[in-house]
Amino acid sequence: MSMSSFLLNRESTREFKNKSIKEGILDLVENAILDLRSENDGRYNVDFKLIKNGSNLYEELKNVGGYAGVMIESPSYIALSAKEDVKDQLYAAYSMEKLISKLNGLNLGSCWVSLAGVPADVKEKLLGSDVDFLLAIGEKKLKNPFLREVFSERKEIKEIVYAEEFGKEIDLDELEGKGLLDLFYYIRFAPSTKNLQPWRFVVSNKKVVLYLDKEVVETYGVADAGIVMYYFEELAKMINLNTEWSLLGFEEKNGYIEVAEIEL
Ligand SMILES: Cc1cc2nc3c(=O)[nH]c(=O)nc-3n(C[C@H](O)[C@H](O)[C@H](O)COP(=O)(O)O)c2cc1C
Repeated sequence: MSMSSFLLNRESTREFKNKSIKEGILDLVENAILDLRSENDGRYNVDFKLIKNGSNLYEELKNVGGYAGVMIESPSYIALSAKEDVKDQLYAAYSMEKLISKLNGLNLGSCWVSLAGVPADVKEKLLGSDVDFLLAIGEKKLKNPFLREVFSERKEIKEIVYAEEFGKEIDLDELEGKGLLDLFYYIRFAPSTKNLQPWRFVVSNKKVVLYLDKEVVETYGVADAGIVMYYFEELAKMINLNTEWSLLGFEEKNGYIEVAEIEL
């Protein structure tokens, strides 16, 4: 499946079939984690751990894990820990989303689970480290075909993309002329904490600068930026742009933090 159709159809799964993931599939998940580890090659302080049997963990985290203690119940989980360093945090989220694209190929549904409300010592006891996020994984519960789907709304391109400088309206024809209209159409479907879509992009001739809402960074960290950076690079490959983000100084401008830039 192309990255654009994957993003259009990508959604968080919060209801799973009440059955374990097959051993053969779990082995493939384990392999995907090993691949991430070797790609990282020790550059970033990030770790993934597969928890095959998630029932105990669910019981322990019920009422504390997830948004406002709404823990997501799934047969298995993947625990993601990263050091405080912002580079590690960004890379962790970037790699987790890469892993999610692979899980989709294995027909597994997934949902990020925030653990900000769980005390560090509880996480140490349950998971062996101060885990930042869990990914709930499993087979998606079948939906009632007669019920209308509720999709998470997305902002318009003009709400998140600016021209030349922060806040300056972008002309969509111009964006199309640069070959970037489709990329920004699809990037909006990236997941984000509470669907806040806190990313802003400033497009100029030679580069795109990524900003993240300061309040989101202060409250939830930089995971949403790492995720969108992953999808941007993947969508760019579809228009033959092999380009990578470089981190900026995290200065604040207009209530947004300047995170990274990418050459076009
Ligand atoms: C970093 C991160 C943390 C999240 N934490 C939770 C969570 O704790 N509970 C939950 O139900 N959804 C969680 N989500 C899922 C988002 O709410 C979801 O991605 C967003 O609402 C968009 O919906 P969609 O993924 O279905 O497109 C999280 C997403 C991200 C990116």
